[in-house]
Amino acid sequence: MKILGIETSCDETSAAVVENGRRILSNVIASQVELHAPFGGVVPELAARRHIEAVGYIVDEALAQAGVELKDIDAYAVANGPGLVGALLVGVNYAKGLAFAQKKPLVGVHHIEAHVCANYLTEPPLSPPFLSLVVSGGHTILLAVEDYNVFRVLGGTLDDAAGEAFDKVARVLGLPFPGGPEVDKVARGGNPLAIAFPRARVGAFEFSFSGLKTAVMQYMAKHPDCDIADVAASFQQAVVDVLVAGAVKAARELRYTNIALAGGVACNRALRTAMEAACEVNHLRLHMPPPVLCTDNAAMIAARGHTMLPGDGWDLDVFPGRMV
Ligand code: KG4
Ligand code: ZN
Repeated sequence: MKILGIETSCDETSAAVVENGRRILSNVIASQVELHAPFGGVVPELAARRHIEAVGYIVDEALAQAGVELKDIDAYAVANGPGLVGALLVGVNYAKGLAFAQKKPLVGVHHIEAHVCANYLTEPPLSPPFLSLVVSGGHTILLAVEDYNVFRVLGGTLDDAAGEAFDKVARVLGLPFPGGPEVDKVARGGNPLAIAFPRARVGAFEFSFSGLKTAVMQYMAKHPDCDIADVAASFQQAVVDVLVAGAVKAARELRYTNIALAGGVACNRALRTAMEAACEVNHLRLHMPPPVLCTDNAAMIAARGHTMLPGDGWDLDVFPGRMV
């Protein structure tokens, strides 16, 4: 069973061919970072227009790299929410056209569930039930993945998502867009214990990052000549501490033995290292995709689509504000 996945929810145009929901035959990703960098953030209309220009080439390249043709594709999976409405429409309509012309099934995939399913594409093999910590630009949630199609939200952020906090703090520190990876880089030269930023503890499985962001802004205003690397490292450590503590607490309380990290922030080196250490101490098995499968990609869309077949009808729509 070969599925062609398409992802256009934000600023990456991606297409991938995945076999049996587990084996990546190709995963082509075209980033729009340079297009949006002068604006300091993603400009929705520019993103949609660039997806239109790129999607055909990216799909062709994904087929070529997989060594297959359209007639070899058994089903089409596409992210149909959450995301930018114009951007999502490009991928959904392209996938719809291909599936209709080829008379093959079409399935609309939840982008955040797909991030979790990136963990099915790596070793060691993972299968439900497990706990997932999803940390992306728009989401920070703890999910109980009870079966391939059963995702139960345990808790999430009450304000900013982890990635959003990274991006906003990067701006305060004067670092270029996209901020998360820049903070990660700069923090490597700083002392994570230099500044005692707050670690919010709220609810059973909830997170909050807006107070931390404010604390960094106030610190910068009071100490204009401070060492940016120390601020980045101390901020990052505060985020990492609450994410790791939250995930381990949930796994222990709900008796999960497997934890899967997912989403763009899962690229963060400090988070990966701290999760590894905490899981070892607590006898938990940690799964985390390589960075290329943590950020937006179409292989994860195909992996998610695999267990959703036969999928949707030709009236498949986009759901930009869709919740999990
Ligand atoms: O999952 P993703 O690629 O897109 C969304 O679905 O949102 O996540 C993007 C987020 C951005 O906020 C970006 O700054 C953050 O992930 N990010 C990182 C790192 N790489 C990406 N945050 C911290 N450290 C990183 N190395
Ligand atoms: Zn994403």
